[in-house]
Amino acid sequence: MKITGISNEEFATLQKLIFKEVGITLADSKKTMVQSRLNKRLVHYKLDSFAQYLRIVQITLTEKIEMINLITTNETYFFREEVHFDFVKSLLTKGVASLRIWSAASSVGAEAYSLAMMINGAVGKDKWEIVGSDINSEVIKKAKMGLYPISWITKIPDQYKNRYCLKGKGKYEGQFLIDRSLCSNMHFTENNLLEQNNYLGEFDIVFLRNVLLYFSDDTKEIVVKNVISNLKVGGFLIISLTENINSVKLKNLVQVRTSIFQKIS
Ligand SMILES: C[S@@+](CC[C@H](N)C(=O)[O-])C[C@H]1O[C@@H](n2cnc3c(N)ncnc32)[C@H](O)[C@@H]1O
Repeated sequence: MKITGISNEEFATLQKLIFKEVGITLADSKKTMVQSRLNKRLVHYKLDSFAQYLRIVQITLTEKIEMINLITTNETYFFREEVHFDFVKSLLTKGVASLRIWSAASSVGAEAYSLAMMINGAVGKDKWEIVGSDINSEVIKKAKMGLYPISWITKIPDQYKNRYCLKGKGKYEGQFLIDRSLCSNMHFTENNLLEQNNYLGEFDIVFLRNVLLYFSDDTKEIVVKNVISNLKVGGFLIISLTENINSVKLKNLVQVRTSIFQKIS
């Protein structure tokens, strides 16, 4: 069956829907990318137009989730933007009694596991916790599994690679598994940063990296305010080196380093 390309009107409907549900502003230039990512769903339902698919999305929650999963960009890797891990290490060397960290928009969990490898051993076993969360249910499933392509291992420093990465054999050849000893201190959950996530409790550090770039200034403000409400006074918010929150006006957040902010009241 030949699928008719997505029209400007259909794409505009999709842009509004994604903005309302996820907060992501999809540029007009993303039309071809969106079309190719969603084509398989039209094939799945044997549809020949995006208008029909959009009707299904609007009335079926599971398909809405499927669509969000296909549209979000989940690129990540271990020890991404090393300077932020150095910052956490500097806190550890000062001696912290306990540490709760939130990897907000965690994707498949590389950021959360990178932190866990560093913290485990530096802070007592029952004194640290890392929560990873994402709107994409598929990446959260993968994060919980902690199984990655072997090519991803190159970014992990040797000391952690040897201790926490188990190279797969047989049907797991070409992959590695994060050592289960880390998992009892880690939790992964689906959530939407557009909403308040009080149930997650308060954190000493929040990593909110490589997600703000998808949001408009207004949405950034909503997201940062939501996230800050989960940060302890004295705690740190870390954003990507390539992002900024200049448009977000918050008196209780001061910049302490490039891309690192402290909640002061
Ligand atoms: C590029 S990844 C960043 C992963 C990781 N933080 C890093 O820096 O490597 C962006 C993630 O943000 C998630 N995301 C996008 N909008 C979101 C929202 N409204 N709430 C929660 N997560 C969201 C996407 O699903 C995606 O996994």
